[in-house]
Amino acid sequence: MATSGHQLSYHINVDTSDVESLQRGSRIFVNYCMGCHSASYMRYNRLGQDLGISEETLKANFMFGTDKPGNTMEIAMKSADALKFFGVAPPDLSVVARSRGADWLYTYFMTFYRDPSRPFGVNNLQFKDVAMPHVLWELQGFQKLVYKTVTHEDGTEMEVIESLEQESEGKMSPDEYKNTVYDLVNFLVYLAEPAKFKRQKIGIWVIVYLLSLLVLAYMLKQEYWKDVR
Ligand code: HEC
Repeated sequence: MATSGHQLSYHINVDTSDVESLQRGSRIFVNYCMGCHSASYMRYNRLGQDLGISEETLKANFMFGTDKPGNTMEIAMKSADALKFFGVAPPDLSVVARSRGADWLYTYFMTFYRDPSRPFGVNNLQFKDVAMPHVLWELQGFQKLVYKTVTHEDGTEMEVIESLEQESEGKMSPDEYKNTVYDLVNFLVYLAEPAKFKRQKIGIWVIVYLLSLLVLAYMLKQEYWKDVR
C-alpha cells in the first residue's frame, strides 16, 4: 500500500512587540538550540537592550564563560565536528525566519514524530528525514503518526497521514508546548530582523518629532512673513 504526504500545517500570527514572549523565546533558544546553532548576526548586548535583559542575567544565563557582552551569539561546536555528528552542519539561525517563514518554523516544531528508522529515532513532517534530533522532546514528549486508509474509485487503497498522536508525555501539556513553540518562533522572527523591532519603537517618536517640527516651521514662517506683507 502506498503512503502519501501530509496536510498538517499551522498558521500563527507572530507579535514581535510582545517583549515577554521574546524573552521566553530567547531562553529556549539559548538553552535548547545554541548547543548546535549559532546566531552570528546578533550580539548579546543588543539582545539585552532590545528585550530588557540585564547584563548580569545575560552573563549568568545566556553567555558562555568566555563571552563578552559585545560578542555575537556563536557556539563552541566546530563545523567539522558537527559534520561528523549529523552529516550536515547545523545552519546559523540568524535569518532562518526570513528564508522559511514563521508558519514553516511553527509547523516544524509541532510535527516531530517517532520514526525508528531514523538515526535519532524521529522524523519530521515539515522537513522529511531531517538530520536534527527532536531537541524539545523533553518538553513535548513523543508523537506518533496516525494513518487512515483511503479507497479510491478504482478500488485501490492508499494510506494517508491523518494526524499525530501523543505517544508519551513530556514535561509540558500540549497547550503549554504550543505556547513555548510560539515564543520560540516569535524570537526567531525578531532575530531575523531586530531592526524592525527598533523601528516599531522608534517610529512613533519620529512621527511626534516631525509633527512638532512642522508646527515650529509653520510658526517661524508666520513670524518671517509678518513684516513682508
Ligand atoms: C543537537 C544539535 C541540534 C540542536 C540542539 C538543534 N538543532 Fe536545529 N538543526 C540541527 C541540524 C544538524 C540541522 C540540519 C538538518 C538537515 O539539514 O537535515 C538543523 C536544522 C534546523 C533547522 C532547519 C534549517 C533550514 O532552514 O534548513 C531549523 C529551523 C532548526 N534546526 C532550528 C533549531 C532550533 C530553533 C533549535 C532549538 C530549539 C535547534 N534547531 C536545536 C541540529 C540541531
